[in-house]
Amino acid sequence: MTQRRILVTSALPYANGDIHLGHLVEYIQTDVWVRFQKLRGNECIYLCADDTHGTAIMMSAQRTGCSEEEWIARVQDEHERDFAGFHIEFDNYGSTNSPENYELCKKFWQAFRDSGLVKEQEVTQLFDDEQGVFLADRFVQGTCPKCGKEDQYGDSCDGCGATYNARDLIDPRSTLTGSTPSVKSADHLFIQIEQLHDFLEEWTQSGDHLQSEVANYLKGHFLHEPLLDWDISRPAPYFGFEIPDAPGNYWFVWFDAPIGYMASTQQYCEKTGDDFERWWKDPDTEVHHFIGKDITYFHTLFWPAMLKVAGFNLPTKVHIHGFLTVDGRKMSKRDGTFVRAATYLNHLDPEYLRYFYCSKLGNGVDDLDLNLEDFIAKVNSDLVGKVVNLASRTAKFISEIGLSAVYPDDGGLFESAAAVGDQIADAYENCEFNKAMRLIMELADQANPFVENSQPWVLRKDPEKQQELQDVCTVALNLFRQLVVYLSPVLPELTGKANELFDVEISNWSDSQSPITGSQISKFKHMMQRVEIKDVEAMIDETKDEAAAEETQSAANESQDSGQPLKDEPLAEECTIDDFVKVDLRVARIVAAQHVEGADRLLQLTLSLGGDETRNVFAGIKSAYEPEELIGRLVVCVANLQPRKMRFGVSEGMITAAGPGGSDVFLLAPDSGAQPGQRVH
Ligand code: 2FM
Ligand code: ZN
Repeated sequence: MTQRRILVTSALPYANGDIHLGHLVEYIQTDVWVRFQKLRGNECIYLCADDTHGTAIMMSAQRTGCSEEEWIARVQDEHERDFAGFHIEFDNYGSTNSPENYELCKKFWQAFRDSGLVKEQEVTQLFDDEQGVFLADRFVQGTCPKCGKEDQYGDSCDGCGATYNARDLIDPRSTLTGSTPSVKSADHLFIQIEQLHDFLEEWTQSGDHLQSEVANYLKGHFLHEPLLDWDISRPAPYFGFEIPDAPGNYWFVWFDAPIGYMASTQQYCEKTGDDFERWWKDPDTEVHHFIGKDITYFHTLFWPAMLKVAGFNLPTKVHIHGFLTVDGRKMSKRDGTFVRAATYLNHLDPEYLRYFYCSKLGNGVDDLDLNLEDFIAKVNSDLVGKVVNLASRTAKFISEIGLSAVYPDDGGLFESAAAVGDQIADAYENCEFNKAMRLIMELADQANPFVENSQPWVLRKDPEKQQELQDVCTVALNLFRQLVVYLSPVLPELTGKANELFDVEISNWSDSQSPITGSQISKFKHMMQRVEIKDVEAMIDETKDEAAAEETQSAANESQDSGQPLKDEPLAEECTIDDFVKVDLRVARIVAAQHVEGADRLLQLTLSLGGDETRNVFAGIKSAYEPEELIGRLVVCVANLQPRKMRFGVSEGMITAAGPGGSDVFLLAPDSGAQPGQRVH
């Protein structure tokens, strides 16, 4: 078989929020595909980077009072930590804010200039005078001009579905400052992509590069009419790369983001001494992008157009997947189903999720549901009950004598399972991981009765049957190892444990084709725990607690999903003095403060309200304060807030603080002299 050269990417995550279980569908899918290719002996590299430019990131940095560079460095550290926690192994993880990316952007830009596809045109947009920025659609809210629904974004209405220009919104306001925007014009640069219509028609419809439903979608939604010019520049202020021949203007984030795939390759080549052109110019190289369906347009129209104009390899395939739902619903913070990668890892083994996603992932664009009951049942029954079980029930019996010298008669089990290898490999290759997992579990279903019927635990008691015992265990362990080879792209940790058990590395798919004999077996160590319902519940509870802590500490705007960061929150609706006095604010002294085991963001505080009156409060301030520095401090607490049951206990109030959240939380402190229990008026 000839060795293929394959470059693989996942979409570059925005440097503006945490990695969550929704993201992981894609990174796990890609990582499994890459590990499979490597196991097959192909030359394959997996590249990614943080996507760091744009207004949202500029605002997040401003909000937390740090530079954009500091902000994106911090987020990138967290992203890389989360990916590593799920065994997602990149050959290089870069940043779009890198010198390599800037140099490549200049090359693409020059190619566009040379091709005559760039034109200049005035764009009139809403402008936030207080902040001094043009407002992208997501930064404007107002009343729908069609149906009158309030609080709609600048591009479309979620009530009646109407799409419109942000300037048509009734009573528009900037989500950055709450101010009423003005209307302002600026020159933008556009790429006349319509001139590449024929090329894009052919490339998207050839049947080779895209799933058929994607090709049809592009035909029906975009290619049936002339393609609109692409607005590629943004005027200052903007966090990005300034366009060399258009000072004061920056490339729009979606221009430099996909070029980031190449910049990451460039860094990989610098690191390893490899040749960049081999990966992006040699027609023998395959380029595979894995993305979610929401960014189809950029990767199947603009990106191929950019590569075509600049003379680089076109994608061999763009693999598009659907979104994640949890228990059949959109992920939600309040329901505790918007689970951050880091929160998951506080409670559960990453291999559970890797296996579960693979058991669900086909090669279509359908959404994937993480049904939590199904998750528990599948992992326990398949991985623990059928796969690990083969080893845990037999390895201990032969740890002193090792495997039989000659592979015993197993009734053809190993050989027939070896023969299924090609089918399993095809399923991996075609991204039908669900089919691959099904085929593997069918083999496990054939292997387990062999152990049941042979009863090694009975044989071991009979001194006459020691050879038989060794033979039975040799078969069971080889069937186990064969399954592990097939599963190794999905379960790298289990593979490592199997390698230790046999003291032989699984390094190639062909390891599934012949049994091993005569070698020693290491002392059996536990390989995988069952998933416990209580751990899943604890993960959901922690997610709910995070959401509650964010809300109570006015940090709900911190996360990417909940709209855009606010610099100054618009004032809440007017309230009467009667409304105000309903909230009983009291001076309180923090008499005890401690970390909460298993909670990333919370501290547990005991507040004294004077006399014997105390309150137990969980506050989302861990990133900003050490418990020791809080003890003895006076704070203002909401003393009559309805108690809230959390996983760690009941929270009986909240303390008041300002700031956007994270490490930027500032507790309100009464002047000295105030006494615990005094009411705040
Ligand atoms: O949708 C997103 O999250 C983008 N940050 C993906 C960019 S992929 C590539 F083009 F850089
Ligand atoms: Zn409407």
